[in-house]
Order: sequence, then structure tokens, then C-alpha cells
Amino acid sequence: MRRKKRVLVIGANSGVAKALCPKVKGEFELVGTYFKNAPDRDYFSRLIKVNLLLKHLGQLKKELLLADEIVFTAGYYLPKHSNKEILDSNFTSLKNVVDLYESLKLKSRFIFLSSSGVYSTSKSNLIAERSRRISNSVYGKAKILAEDYLKHSQVPYVILRPTMIFGKNFSHTFKQLESNLLQNRIFVYGKGNNWCTYTYEEDLVKVIRKVLLSDIVNDDFNVCNPPIKQLDFWKTLMQIYSIKDISYLEKQDALSDLAHPFDKGFIVRMTRSRVFNCKKVESALKIKLGNNFNKAAQETFK
Ligand SMILES: NC(=O)c1ccc[n+]([C@@H]2O[C@H](COP(=O)([O-])OP(=O)(O)OC[C@H]3O[C@@H](n4cnc5c(N)ncnc54)[C@H](OP(=O)(O)O)[C@@H]3O)[C@@H](O)[C@H]2O)c1
Repeated sequence: MRRKKRVLVIGANSGVAKALCPKVKGEFELVGTYFKNAPDRDYFSRLIKVNLLLKHLGQLKKELLLADEIVFTAGYYLPKHSNKEILDSNFTSLKNVVDLYESLKLKSRFIFLSSSGVYSTSKSNLIAERSRRISNSVYGKAKILAEDYLKHSQVPYVILRPTMIFGKNFSHTFKQLESNLLQNRIFVYGKGNNWCTYTYEEDLVKVIRKVLLSDIVNDDFNVCNPPIKQLDFWKTLMQIYSIKDISYLEKQDALSDLAHPFDKGFIVRMTRSRVFNCKKVESALKIKLGNNFNKAAQETFK
């Protein structure tokens, strides 16, 4: 019998890893690395504790040598993390692993979870892979640095760029939003006709699984579902929380102090009108990323 492909999941306690591992554990042998918090052991044949910021990554060396594929999901991005933590976990950690990987002259593939944040200050409202990657945020800049480091290395790579991920493993991301929802504080920014974007975790898992089964190398893909109107986004959440009232907030107020209790980062996303073109990933992997916001929101907020 052929042995299962061995996949090294770096950042095994991340939301993405928690969504992915149970779905693919039958098809692949999974080995995981974690930093501060150990994930559920059930899905992994081995788990190792590694701080990717240490120069000496001895234990990781052995796992890299054995791996057929690497899925790199490490990287903090929530406002509770300092700029240094964001830069370190999104760029330096990847750089350290890529340096070690190159020194070992490995040829297995490196699947990197980057982010649509690389386009965050791009002027374009219709974003495709060839759109300009430009960002003012430390997070977006760190992801651009990491992508470029990987692209200029000898490592065979696939870069995936999800937008904000919704699903049952991502409820923690929306704590501030949820507390506002529970206080009946829903604001529509502007008229609510702008397009908002999201990635459903189940669809992202499908994409990663298909990439693992494919032989695609040295390519990058934006990964998200079709956009939804901001008003529909709020209406879905109102239904979930049985909220009746909705208020409208002028766009400029959304960016002012008025918005502070809400989570400014999230508001910025809600005030933009953006559409991501994900035809490239759909055609490369022969999949359809459908409109799953209702399902995604139910799972995130219940
Ligand atoms: N969530 C989203 O909406 C979203 C959207 C677009 C892109 N992404 C990207 O997708 C990836 C996964 O996101 P996520 O939300 O699933 O992540 P997450 O739940 O926030 O987890 C991040 C992981 O990074 C690990 N990590 C951080 N610093 C590390 C270090 N120095 N050494 C080793 N491990 C370290 C953490 O390990 P410990 O738990 O052990 O501390 C943690 O498990 C991230 O790179 C993120 O930027 C996420």
C-alpha cells in the first residue's frame, strides 16, 4: 500500500489548521507544530512545540526533512497583538523556516497562508492576483515581505490569500463584533450598498485540500466567496441575533471616534466596496466558491 503523503502543518493551533486537519486526516499523515498553545492531538501523528523566531530550529529540521508538503499557517493579526508580534509572526517566522528549508535543499512544496491584506490600500475595487499589492498596515506589509521572500527563494511555493475568514473555528475573531450585536448596536455604514468580502472556512479547506492533491507550484491565488452587500451582511446577523433595529452611520463617522467601541479595523473593511476575482483559483482547482454567507455566519455566531 502506498504511504500517505506527510503534511507538516506549521501553526497547528491556528483557526485554519483547526478547520483543515479534521477534514484531511484520513488522506494525509499530519504532523503539527505549535508555539504557545497545543492543539487537539487527535489529528496529528506528531506534535512539536517550536518558536519559529528562534534561530536554531533543530527539531523543525527533522520534520522538514520528512515532510512531503508544508502548510504554513502561523501568523497573528488581531489588534490585541503588538506591531512587533505581527511582523515577527507573519514575516520573520516564515523567513526563518524558508532559510532552514533552503539550507537543506528540499524540494517539497510550501503552501503559505497569506492574506488579502496585501492589497489593503490598493486603489482598485476589482482585485485579481495581478493587482498591485500595497498596504499601510504592519500586517499587510509583513505578508508582502513574506510573499516576496518566498517567491525569491528556491522553495516551490503556493500562496493563498483569503479575505476575512468566517466559520466555526473563527468565532474568536469576532468577539468585539459579537458584544456589539448582543447590545443591539448594529450600524450600517453609508447606505449599505457597497460590496463586502468574506471567505468561508469550509471553502478555504476545500482549496487547501485540492492544492495538496494537485501539482501546482510557484503560483498565487486569491481565495474568497462572491461578495455580499453590506446591508445583507448586517441583515443576516440581525436574524441570527433576533435584532430588530438598525442604525445608519455616515461613512466619515464610521472612521471617527464614534466607531471606536465597535472595532475600527472591521469598520474599515465594511466601508469599502471591493470585489475579489477568484476565477484563477476556481479554474486551476476546478471548484466553485459559492455564496455561503448565511451558512458561514450561522456557524461563526452560534
Ligand atoms: N483569520 C482570518 O480572517 C485570516 C484572513 C486572511 C489570512 N489569514 C492568515 O491565515 C493564517 C491563519 O490564520 P488564523 O486566523 O487561522 O490564525 P490564528 O488562529 O490567529 O493562529 C495563528 C497561529 O500562529 C502561531 N504563531 C504565531 N507566532 C508564532 C511563532 N513565533 N512560532 C510559532 N507559531 C507561531 C500561533 O501559535 P500558538 O497558538 O501556539 O501561539 C497560532 O496558532 C495566518 O497567517 C493569517 O494571517 C487569516
